[in-house]
Amino acid sequence: MKIVVIGGTGLIGSKLVEQLKAQGHEAVPAAPNTGVNTLTGEGLSEVLQGAPVVVDVSNSPSWADDAVMEFFRTSTTNLLKAEAEAGATHHVALSVVGTDRLQESGYFRAKQAQENLIKESGMPYSIVHATQFFEFMKGIADLATEGDTVRLSPAGIQPILSDDVAAAVGRTAVGAPVDAVVEIAGPEAFPLDELIRRTLAARNDPRTVVTDPQARYSGAPLEENTLLPGPGAHLAETRYTDWLAQQS
Ligand SMILES: NC(=O)c1ccc[n+]([C@@H]2O[C@H](COP(=O)([O-])OP(=O)(O)OC[C@H]3O[C@@H](n4cnc5c(N)ncnc54)[C@H](OP(=O)(O)O)[C@@H]3O)[C@@H](O)[C@H]2O)c1
Repeated sequence: MKIVVIGGTGLIGSKLVEQLKAQGHEAVPAAPNTGVNTLTGEGLSEVLQGAPVVVDVSNSPSWADDAVMEFFRTSTTNLLKAEAEAGATHHVALSVVGTDRLQESGYFRAKQAQENLIKESGMPYSIVHATQFFEFMKGIADLATEGDTVRLSPAGIQPILSDDVAAAVGRTAVGAPVDAVVEIAGPEAFPLDELIRRTLAARNDPRTVVTDPQARYSGAPLEENTLLPGPGAHLAETRYTDWLAQQS
């Protein structure tokens, strides 16, 4: 089956394309450097020809509030219109567990706008909500750093390996549209401050993590369960501590 992967050159997209090809699918990576741009529409109708399934794992190059909202609104609108014209029958998108609980964040308001456009489009869809990727833990530390101090909430986080995300998105893409959100997460939850403390120690990073229940995540306050998946989530097998040990 032909499956177009928008953002197919990114972290999740490149793994997804590889995994789908290994399963015998015609997986086509689509991104600006393959000649497809969802913001301008360049190359979009051409690449979507003959593809029943389109997976969107793109991300905005800028996470500034206005830029990220403009990215997800415009790219999703262009993509859904082009899919309808090309005769696609399943739109799959990757979003984030807790998006609806993180609406004080500009990034998550933009992800919510993306999800709302999909739900209102009339196109059969599946939205996969993943928790934070293992590879993103250093990014979380960097975003929370002032000087040598990393200020983080002790709220729960249950990260997942990018390869496991790609596998779950791939399974969703080859299945029937669910017209709903499905959740995926790693096998273990940790206090966010403690997880980043362990991550920095394993990397010999000298920054100090300070526990602060009021510290915001991407601009939004965290409750204990804000970032955690619900009881029906599919849990992947790879453990963060095993992965971290292999990295160092
Ligand atoms: N980070 C996390 O922990 C996390 C957790 C859950 C869900 N997510 C979601 O996962 C998704 C993928 O994240 P990722 O880390 O894999 O992203 P990434 O590595 O930053 O890759 C982004 C992809 O989007 C492409 N792209 C950028 N602008 C585009 C445009 N105008 N038209 C078409 N493609 C464009 C990029 O192409 P170029 O390389 O050519 O620029 C790249 O292939 C995001 O939507 C994010 O919200 C992330």
